[in-house]
Amino acid sequence: MSTLLQINTSLHSDRGASSQLAGRYVKRWQAAHPDGTVVLRDLAATPVPHLTAERFQAFLETPETRTPGQVRVVAESDTLIEELKQADEVVLGLPMYNFGVPSTLKAWIDHVARAGVTFRYTGHGPQGLLQDRRTLVFAARGGQYRGTPADTQSAYIERFLNFIGIHDIEFIYAEGLNLGDAPRRDALNQAHREIEGLAA
Ligand SMILES: Cc1cc2nc3c(=O)[nH]c(=O)nc-3n(C[C@H](O)[C@H](O)[C@H](O)COP(=O)(O)O)c2cc1C
Repeated sequence: MSTLLQINTSLHSDRGASSQLAGRYVKRWQAAHPDGTVVLRDLAATPVPHLTAERFQAFLETPETRTPGQVRVVAESDTLIEELKQADEVVLGLPMYNFGVPSTLKAWIDHVARAGVTFRYTGHGPQGLLQDRRTLVFAARGGQYRGTPADTQSAYIERFLNFIGIHDIEFIYAEGLNLGDAPRRDALNQAHREIEGLAA
C-alpha cells in the first residue's frame, strides 16, 4: 500500500493556489491508488515553532539527559521525519512569500534537518540518510522568476531535499498569478495541463 505525504504551506491552507494545485494532483494519485493513504501536513493550520536555541539544544542532548520538555521537542521533530520516511511520494505546495519560502516551511526544514538522523557529515562531505522518493513541488508565485537568478527559492528547496537524500524532484510552476486576470488564468491552465501529464 502506497503512502503520499502532502505538505501544504500556504497561509491560506487548502485555499491557496499552491495547495489547490497540489490537491489537484493528489486527487489523481488517489484515483490511481484506491488503497493508498494520504497524510496531510498543513503548516498554516499547525505551524512548527521556530527553531530557537532552546529547542535546538534538545537535539544536542543525549536521550538520557533530555528534560521532559526536550523530549517533547525531539518527539515533534521525530514525527515530522517519520512522516517523510513513511512516504513513498511527497507533494509540496510552495508559495513564494517575500522572495523566499513560507517561514512555516523553514521552521519545518529546521526540524527535519537532524544530524545523525536525516543527514551526516563524512570525510567526503554531507550524506543524506533518507531514501530517495518521488517529490513533486507545486510552486505558486505572484511574479515571474523561473529560470532567473532571482529564483533562489527553487534552488534552496532542491538543495535541502538533496541534502537529506531526496533527488527525484520535479517542479510544477504557476507564475504571474498577481499580474492580472488573463496571465493568472493562463498560468493556472498551463499548470493544470502539466498536472494532467504527470504519471500518478
Ligand atoms: C505575504 C506575501 C508575500 C508575497 N511575496 C511575493 C514575492 O516575493 N514574490 C512573488 O512573486 N509573489 C509574492 N506573493 C504572491 C504569492 O506568491 C501568490 O499570491 C501565490 O499565489 C501564493 O501562493 P498561495 O496562494 O498558495 O498562498 C506574496 C504573497 C503574500 C501573501
